[in-house]
Amino acid sequence: MNFPLDLPIRPRRNRQSPAIRGLVRETRLAAGQLIYPLFITEGMVDEDISSMPGCRRWSLDGLVREATSAFEAGVRSVVLFPRIADALKTRGAEEAWNDEGLVPRAIKALNAALPDLAVITDVALDPYNSDGHDGLVADDGRIVNDETVAALCRQALSHAHAGAAIVAPSDMMDGRVAALRAALDNAGFYDVGIMSYTAKYASAYYGPFRGALDSAPKAGDKKTYQMDPANAREAVREALLDEAEGADILMVKPAGPYLDIIKSLREATPLPIAAYQVSGEYLMIKSACAAGWLDERRIVMESLTGIRRAGADMILTYFAKQASLWLAEDGG
Ligand code: PBG
Repeated sequence: MNFPLDLPIRPRRNRQSPAIRGLVRETRLAAGQLIYPLFITEGMVDEDISSMPGCRRWSLDGLVREATSAFEAGVRSVVLFPRIADALKTRGAEEAWNDEGLVPRAIKALNAALPDLAVITDVALDPYNSDGHDGLVADDGRIVNDETVAALCRQALSHAHAGAAIVAPSDMMDGRVAALRAALDNAGFYDVGIMSYTAKYASAYYGPFRGALDSAPKAGDKKTYQMDPANAREAVREALLDEAEGADILMVKPAGPYLDIIKSLREATPLPIAAYQVSGEYLMIKSACAAGWLDERRIVMESLTGIRRAGADMILTYFAKQASLWLAEDGG
């Protein structure tokens, strides 16, 4: 072999220094693309969550403090998940549209303290429903679609009244995006956006989240409304429906194991795509890093970059604040 090789094309030229790698980098991550999911509770004290080490259920004061520190790190949006007391859970999930309830009070507290923060709310009945399902459960155990959609509209209106910037239906009922859009518009909330959980899979990766909220289904599973993990074309079908129904942002959930779905939605629609790095993805990273087996900072950044590279414009992640702090250290 003769040296040097006769090699006019050398891809390594573009990798030779941080400056050049910075020029050719195809995917960037910014704090403004991260959405921070926050758990909230009625109590006055913040509580550790045993199923999700490093996450807490915040009191309203704690919520404002945590959102403020995330905002200072560059995070510009949060999504709220309430833990509702058992005594308030009913088969009809009426607490979901109580204007004095936990979520409306949290929205108001955040908007008062942080007017430039976008507050997103989860629209689904599972935290409020004594059955632990996202929809209303009939006597025969079926999850009823159309009655649930009516309930979700009441819930979304209550969030909009309180000042939510975006409502995010996570229930997977048919027709809910169109119904929510009509209900919001009829009430004058033209500017309240809809981030639809478009392709939400019936996933084992949600386990730690259900522990955090005590919201696991009492009977059965969620397979009659959440999607089969084996299906990809069906996600495109859901995306086209949500787009036609007036969704502003489409979401894929979970994120890491579903990068192909993110990519195919990116190609199927011009709408912004969100991806949710869910509790199980968080816990896998946290536990491996706690054991000293992986480098947390590098793994978190690589996992978020991979989700962006697949085509997500924004990412819901429990690492949002930490990742934003790391991004700032790296010079944004
Ligand atoms: C429920 C809801 C779930 C998550 C967000 N909204 C759980 C479920 O569908 O059972 C999961 C989030 C996570 O695992 O981080 N509407």
